[in-house]
Amino acid sequence: MFNAETITNVANAAYVVAALLFILALAGLSKHETSKAGNAFGMAGMGVALIATIVLAVNNKIEPLGLALLVGAMAIGAAIGLWRARIVEMTGMPELIALLHSFVGLAAVLVGWSGYLHVEHELDGQGALELAKEGMLGIHSAEVFIGVFIGAVTFTGSIVANLKLSAKISSSPLMLPGKNFLNVGSLVLFVALTVWFVISPNLWLLVGVTVLALLLGWHLVASIGGGDMPVVVSMLNSYSGWAAAASGFLLSNDLLIITGALVGSSGAYLSYIMCKAMNRSFISVIAGGFGIEAGPAEDKDYGEHREITAEGAAELLGSADSVIITPGYGMAVAQAQYGVADLTRKLREKGVNVRFGIHPVAGRLPGHMNVLLAEAKVPYDIVLEMDEINDDFDDTAVVLVIGANDTVNPAASEDPGSPIAGMPVLTVWNADNVIVFKRSMASGYAGVQNPLFFRDNTQMLFGDARDRVNDILAAL
Ligand code: TAP
Repeated sequence: MFNAETITNVANAAYVVAALLFILALAGLSKHETSKAGNAFGMAGMGVALIATIVLAVNNKIEPLGLALLVGAMAIGAAIGLWRARIVEMTGMPELIALLHSFVGLAAVLVGWSGYLHVEHELDGQGALELAKEGMLGIHSAEVFIGVFIGAVTFTGSIVANLKLSAKISSSPLMLPGKNFLNVGSLVLFVALTVWFVISPNLWLLVGVTVLALLLGWHLVASIGGGDMPVVVSMLNSYSGWAAAASGFLLSNDLLIITGALVGSSGAYLSYIMCKAMNRSFISVIAGGFGIEAGPAEDKDYGEHREITAEGAAELLGSADSVIITPGYGMAVAQAQYGVADLTRKLREKGVNVRFGIHPVAGRLPGHMNVLLAEAKVPYDIVLEMDEINDDFDDTAVVLVIGANDTVNPAASEDPGSPIAGMPVLTVWNADNVIVFKRSMASGYAGVQNPLFFRDNTQMLFGDARDRVNDILAAL
């Protein structure tokens, strides 16, 4: 009914539609109110892209075995994806995302290698001769080499990020001697090898760049300390986008180039915003270098901490006129948001001015706390960003720090030697009373001690945050 040319044109038009849907997805995801629609656009775009790809493959007379492999791989991938997405906890999202980035990186390496084996491996073969006739062989070689490099850096970097985020390896920075020299040296070596490969492509150069990039990816992320991991995840997101775009060039797939560029640039922009929020230099993140200018945390003696009971906390809250709640990762672990929402309602009914202060990197992924509070139906207008609320702590009677630690650490602004020095924090210590909900005196994600716990106006309320919030509700 349709000839091959028409089918190709329709499939290419479908690619343009998919690209537009991806752009709408990004626009939708940038606001809380439109994020569900954004997700729907993204899923629709991916559906269109997958169907168009299969149609194109069939139209290009893919062999039956190839088609079976394509459909089989998609079915297995979809089943695993659905299963993981169903069981993943909100707190496990960042490590899952890091793992998914590693797949994009690995795919780019495999596409690059396959490109080499089809073309440069046999310079007197048909593929290479055709490209050479058009003067495109050098460009193809550069695409192979750059794609493999970015893909391999993304692959091992994302695996290290996954291991760090899931606490399977230590989150403290690896500090090899001359680490900046190793990073910059690897980049210079990569550029030199690329030139060499374009002039005379050969297998050993490709093996060399693959190993170099695998090691560089590992080293880049391993050298970054715990507190700076959020930026690393979004940076790897960006790298995975560029890796996909590189594969798009190799496969002559426009949609992959557009999608890769969208992911690459939006990831880079998100990293930039997060760097600004954490007062880190963007350039030094890309170079995998920051977080180590300040040495490792020293064990300082801050004196004794004081404890409070749930009844004592209820009493303090009962007599307060203004309360700010600063949640963190521990609230997510304890799933305390519902109790916190009840507590908020109860206090507001008594006429207490209750607000929330959200640090940009509280929790384990951007917007983590906002999602949890919205889920528990906390009114959105009392949930404020750090910059909006930081000046108000002076006039606040009680601050409830619920499972947050690094994000309320005064050492960030007061101790230039601290590994998190310079990172803006919620200045909770300026309030009259601070109650910290946590299970022990253990440090937070960045692995540094928190002098807040030893201040005169701070009291610790030990135990699981959900149980303690429920105890306070009962006492109120
Ligand atoms: P953290 O500094 O990780 O502190 C969380 C605290 O919650 C811990 O001190 C822990 O103390 C406590 N906790 C854990 N489970 C608890 C429970 N069931 N009940 C009560 N307390 C519990 O969290 P934060 O203040 O939210 O800071 C976030 C950190 O994660 C930053 O360093 C940030 O850079 C990093 N990070 C952020 C992201 C993004 S994008 N948001 C991504 C990756 C990493 P106990 O063990 O003593 O209970």
